[in-house]
Amino acid sequence: MRRKFVAGNWKMNGSANSIRELLQGIREGAAEVAAVELAVFPSFVYLGLVEQQLSDSSIGWGAQNLSEHASGAHTGEVAGSMLQDFHCDYVIVGHSERRTLYGETDEIVARKFATARKIGLKPILCVGETLQEREQGVTEAVVERQIKAVLDLEGISGFADAVIAYEPVWAIGTGRTATAGQAQEVHAFIRAKLAQLDSALASQVRILYGGSMKAANAAELLAMPDIDGGLIGGASLEAKEFLAIAKAGC
Ligand code: 13P
Repeated sequence: MRRKFVAGNWKMNGSANSIRELLQGIREGAAEVAAVELAVFPSFVYLGLVEQQLSDSSIGWGAQNLSEHASGAHTGEVAGSMLQDFHCDYVIVGHSERRTLYGETDEIVARKFATARKIGLKPILCVGETLQEREQGVTEAVVERQIKAVLDLEGISGFADAVIAYEPVWAIGTGRTATAGQAQEVHAFIRAKLAQLDSALASQVRILYGGSMKAANAAELLAMPDIDGGLIGGASLEAKEFLAIAKAGC
């Protein structure tokens, strides 16, 4: 059985005060959704605060990115070992905003995935097509290419402790959600691709959906057989909404 996982990607939002308030709200409701794993992903600079607020809770945390390098002359970058100092469980790699706004190629993303795994951080690999790619009918080819880059470097065993997030770029921050059917189709495709290499492992890997997921559409998405949770952007910035999404997965 795959335990449902609801993760909040806060992106470049929040302040020390708003984060304290948000986490208090999430903590207050967490027991009610204990069947679902919860985690939050603040900006690097708030990881210490988040650790302080959550270390005695069941809620996990992680970072939104990491450097592919272990240390050295990389001004402005953050190493995986630094994330471990803040006891991160997870790290997001290859978010579409990193790919499109900051030029992260499939190969860079794969190297970040490998760097995370090497030190025991669980990567959440984001994949997904743009609107143009969907309209051209190449959704599966794009997602397959993004996953293949990781498989080439790490092999199928690289996915043992990893999580995949299918985030169609056209659904991110647009209010336009993939239908449950559209998302399920891609999730099933991803699982089938992994199953060709290791069916036992493929049946264990959690595949989250991301893209304008909110309380109002969560139940339908989470009812799909291959949708194991959500990677939530905007709706994770409000405790009530975030918890309501988790509730839909219970
Ligand atoms: P939204 O939920 O704001 O569409 O963002 C999704 C996302 O990018 C999560 O990583």
